[in-house]
Amino acid sequence: MEDIELPENLKLNTFLQEFHSDCSHPKCGFGYYGFAFGQSPFHVPHIMQKALVQNAHQGKYAAVPGIEELRESISEYNKHYFGMDIDPRRIYVGPGTKELLYNLLEILHGTVILPTPAWLGYLPQIRLLKKNYHMLSTRVNKKITPHDLKKLSLRLQDRQKILILNNPNNPTGLLYDRLELEEIAEVCREQNIIIISDEIYAQTTYKFENFVSMGKIYPEGTFVTNGLSKSHAAGGYRLGYVIFPQHAADVGEQFKKILATEYTAVSTPIQHAAVTGFQVSKEMDQYFKVTRKIHEIMGEFTYQTLQQISGIKSTKPQATFYLLVDFNQFATEFTGSKISTSQTFSESLIQHPYHTAIIGGDSLVLERTDFSARMAFVDYNGKKAFENYLDNPPKTHSDRIEFVETNAPRIISGLKMIELYFDHLRQNAKSAIECKYIPFTVSE
Ligand SMILES: Cc1ncc(COP(=O)(O)O)c(C=O)c1O
Repeated sequence: MEDIELPENLKLNTFLQEFHSDCSHPKCGFGYYGFAFGQSPFHVPHIMQKALVQNAHQGKYAAVPGIEELRESISEYNKHYFGMDIDPRRIYVGPGTKELLYNLLEILHGTVILPTPAWLGYLPQIRLLKKNYHMLSTRVNKKITPHDLKKLSLRLQDRQKILILNNPNNPTGLLYDRLELEEIAEVCREQNIIIISDEIYAQTTYKFENFVSMGKIYPEGTFVTNGLSKSHAAGGYRLGYVIFPQHAADVGEQFKKILATEYTAVSTPIQHAAVTGFQVSKEMDQYFKVTRKIHEIMGEFTYQTLQQISGIKSTKPQATFYLLVDFNQFATEFTGSKISTSQTFSESLIQHPYHTAIIGGDSLVLERTDFSARMAFVDYNGKKAFENYLDNPPKTHSDRIEFVETNAPRIISGLKMIELYFDHLRQNAKSAIECKYIPFTVSE
């Protein structure tokens, strides 16, 4: 167990408790600016909440792979939004995609190829299952290239390999386009690589028409996972699904045995609530459009603000609610301040007087000395922002800035704190500042 990295939720909670609750500064009554937690800020869609209440009486166990209505609605959802014609029998429902990823890794033979940086969830599972794995660094352009994939695959002994592709990507916020996916699929066909395509952020793609599922490009070799956690802001409902590749019914039968052995079935009322979440409806369509638009506004603002801080580079998100920031240009200053790892960097940023939480490189499956970090732009009241967007959707650039100022002042203050931190780092000084809201002025 000691080889297994603490899963991200435990790691983050421990970290925030340890470094925040004991702030002993006399003037400090402040929490922290939250760029760390990757949780949707929005409300669970009302029609799902209603369906959950209406189905509270459903006390019977559900069918192992999911109730029929749900598998049908997931199929309808995939057809409408992702242009895929999926026989519901290829769909298996589980308590979150995390569990399904684990179940897949349990039954699929082969060495795992894990592109990095990566969501922290994969590695503890791979280690727990004692699977062979290899990292595939995307350091250059933050996406895997067919050339690097082939080179790595040729070095691996196993006849079959498993690529974990996370598109759109946590932590970069980047999206693979159709051509990139086709080139990756070509290598996979040639090299006998099957893909687990984690598409949990698909619905958050800002220019939604640009999202293409790997299940469409490489249907014979891709397991697509998705669920309620990000698109429907219902991580706590614990419901995800996997679409099996075409012509894999026999593997599906084995998979069902694993599901039945490990958890029997997902909670029946939750499955009924999920039916309404996946059925195509006006309410859900509006929900996806508005939430995706707000993510885009917050992402654009965060990206633009970081661009203005000298020495900082970041990815420009095309989906999700994250971006990856590269602070490596400050390596010399970090060393001067006795900050030698990404862990000590994130600790120094959460401590008084900065109180800003980010996810350091060590939690993104990067080298401990890589000063890259993930920032999530979700520290605001999503329900209120949603309502305000409906009342008065921002149209121009300055409308969008005003929208951020009105709805997400903590994002603005947190970014100011990061700027201040690096000012201080450059001067090797920590001047006394009070921990309170820092007013933001628009420089237009
Ligand atoms: C890339 C990625 N995959 C999967 C998950 C887990 O999703 P679920 O809540 O469905 O288990 C997350 C959650 O943060 C994630 O970021």
